[in-house]
Parts: sequence; structure tokens; C-alpha cells
Amino acid sequence: MKKAFITGINGQDGSYLTEHLLNSGYEVAGLVRRSSVSENQTYRINHLEDKIKTYYGDLIDKSSITNALKDFKPNLIFNLAAQSHVRLSFDMPAFTTQVNAIGALNVFDSVKEICPDARVYQASSSEMFGSSVDDDNFQRETTPMTPVSPYGCSKLYAYSIARNFRKAYGLFISNGILFNHESPRRGTNFVTAKVIKGALNIKKGYTDKLEMGNLDSYRDWGHSSDYTKAMIKLLNYENPEDIVISTGKAYSVRELCEVVFNELGLDYKDHIVINERFFRPQELSYLQGDSSKGRKMLNWEPEFTFKTLLSDMIKHFEKE
Ligand code: NAP
Ligand code: GDD
Repeated sequence: MKKAFITGINGQDGSYLTEHLLNSGYEVAGLVRRSSVSENQTYRINHLEDKIKTYYGDLIDKSSITNALKDFKPNLIFNLAAQSHVRLSFDMPAFTTQVNAIGALNVFDSVKEICPDARVYQASSSEMFGSSVDDDNFQRETTPMTPVSPYGCSKLYAYSIARNFRKAYGLFISNGILFNHESPRRGTNFVTAKVIKGALNIKKGYTDKLEMGNLDSYRDWGHSSDYTKAMIKLLNYENPEDIVISTGKAYSVRELCEVVFNELGLDYKDHIVINERFFRPQELSYLQGDSSKGRKMLNWEPEFTFKTLLSDMIKHFEKE
């Protein structure tokens, strides 16, 4: 039986990835941080509790990673752990860099020491492209990377050191450059979940307003369940590769609001209030990914569209 180890196992992607791996017959373990409210922290993986093994640890503490790898002896390692919120990375740039950049280095260095034959997935991000867009309005593997946030900079370091360890030490490390992906398990301070939860609260009469930041940026939104399937395919590909995963369709935050509010019989213009607090010191204005390389190489296609993703999320949050 193949063994997969996941950092960030209790996050949005970690939970879907675990389900897909278990369904494919993998033994799964992961790293979980200590929290003072542990029952809330693991809500996304509580239903999998008796099928997986968890180790307490933190990417900043290299010994916690090496100890877990020595004990579990995985064949596949998915490094998903991160401070993943872009706006908050402006408030906590050093912490974000410690976790996302030095933390990733700690994972790769531990693999080099403990299990150099294991295959490693690094959770890279479209945020690394920053202000770069090709002439045809897409970002792809060859697009220059000019990040515009501490989060994007930290992810670019991890992406680069992954490539360095691949060449320098012959490690099998692949970067999945994933565009935004959401789900019913998305943290509620990311824009899709925030808009859906906010619109439902208005519909239920709990409030009349929803405070938002910049409505004019564009994102390429897919579903975490689809994207985590691509992660497994990438590590099972014959060579380590860096590939983009995206839907190829961009929508503005304004369009997101329009679709969600319309779906609930509301007009977003009557309820959305702009609050500067939710703006970023520097914004990434446009993301639209060309994933043709990854689709062909991995024989992968997303099942969810923008509309079915939002319906799936609305259905979930309606029950809360
Ligand atoms: P998420 O829901 O925020 O999950 C992040 C996970 O990392 C959580 O399990 C979190 O644990 C854990 N973590 C945070 N800091 C840690 C630390 N110092 N040590 C150990 N674990 C730590 O994020 P996601 O949406 O699943 O994303 C997964 C990965 O893909 C992240 O690296 C993210 O940056 C990257 N990514 C995401 C997207 C996207 O649109 N979702 C796109 C591209 C790349 P706690 O619960 O304890 O905080
Ligand atoms: N979160 C949030 N809250 N975003 C808002 C708001 C608001 O109130 N109002 C407008 N936005 C805009 C942001 O300015 C941004 O342009 C867009 O909505 C998306 O914001 P997020 O959902 O927070 O995601 P993100 O694009 O910054 O980052 C996500 O995608 C990256 C991949 O491109 C995260 O999942 C990152 O971890 C991931 O790497």
C-alpha cells in the first residue's frame, strides 16, 4: 500500500485530498498544529478520524517534520500547509514568510535527509504571477513571476527552492501552480465564502449590508475537489514537473456578487458597502490560467464550472 503524508491535512485542500487518497487505497497521515480549540480546528477531517494518522507539528519546527517522516515513511508528501490568506500576509509578512518559505525549505530538507526517494508536491500559487499577464490575457508556466504580496513572494521562494532541490539533489518535487479554488469547506474570510454567507444572512433577515473590498479584480475560480485530484495525478506522473491548474475562465468579484445575490433573489447593489479595510496595499488585478499543459499531461479536466461551484457552496451554507 502506498503511503501519503500531508502537511495542512485539516485545511480545505488537505481534507479533499485525504478523501481522494483514501478512495484510491492510500494510507494517509498528516501534520496538525497544536490549537487551544482543537475540536474546531479539525472539523474538516473529523469524519476521517479513524482512517488517518495525525502528528502534532508545525512547518516552522523542522524536528516535528523529520520525526513524523521517520515514523510514517511515506512514498508521497503533499506540502499544503501555509498561512494562505493574501490580505493577512500584509499584516503578518514575517510570519507568512517563515511558514510558507522557510517552512517549505524545512519540508524539502527533511525529505532530503529522511526519505530522498519520496515524491513531493509543493502547493504553489497563481498569486506568484502577481502583475504579469501574457499578451493573450492568460498566465501559464512560462509567464514571468512578479508577485505583489508578501504571500506571493513567500510562495515564489518555495517554488524556486523546490526547483533548486530537484536539480541540485535529484529530489522528485513537483510544483502545482494552482489558481483560486473554493468549496463548501473554504474559510469564510475568502471572498467566495464571504459573499455567499453574507448574502444568505441578508436573505434570512439577520442583516442588510455586506462590507466588501475591491470588486474590480478578476479571479479564475475552480473547485478544491477537482484540483486535489490533479495533485495526485501530478505526483504519479513519470517526471517531476511544474504545472498550472485552472479553469481558464475569469470573473470579477462584482460578477461573483451579482451571480450569488441573483441566485437568492437579491440585488447586490442594494446591500454591498465598500469598506477600505478589505482593500490590499497592492492588489493583483487579473488572474486567468492556461492549464492546457497540465490537462494534456495528466489527462485532467475540472468537473465544476463557476456556476456549479457557487451552487455547491450556496447549498452547503444554506444548511448552516
Ligand atoms: P487552508 O484552508 O488555509 O489550509 C492551510 C493549512 O495549513 C491548514 O491545515 C493550516 O492549519 C495549515 N497550517 C498553517 N500554518 C501552518 C504551520 N505553521 N505549520 C503547519 N500547518 C500549518 O488553505 P487551502 O485552501 O487548503 O490551500 C492549501 C495550500 O494550497 C496552501 O499552501 C495554499 O497557500 C495553497 N494554494 C491555495 C489556493 C486556493 O485557492 N485555495 C490556490 C493556490 C495555492 P490550521 O488549521 O492550524 O491553521
Ligand atoms: N478575502 C476578501 N474579502 N477578498 C475580497 C473582499 C473581501 O471582503 N472584497 C474584495 N475582495 C477581493 C480581493 O481583493 C481579491 O482581489 C479577490 O477578492 C479574491 O480574494 P480572496 O478570496 O481572499 O483570494 P486571493 O485571490 O487573494 O487568494 C486566494 O487565491 C490564491 C491563488 O491565486 C488564496 O486561496 C491563496 O491562498 C491562493 O494562493
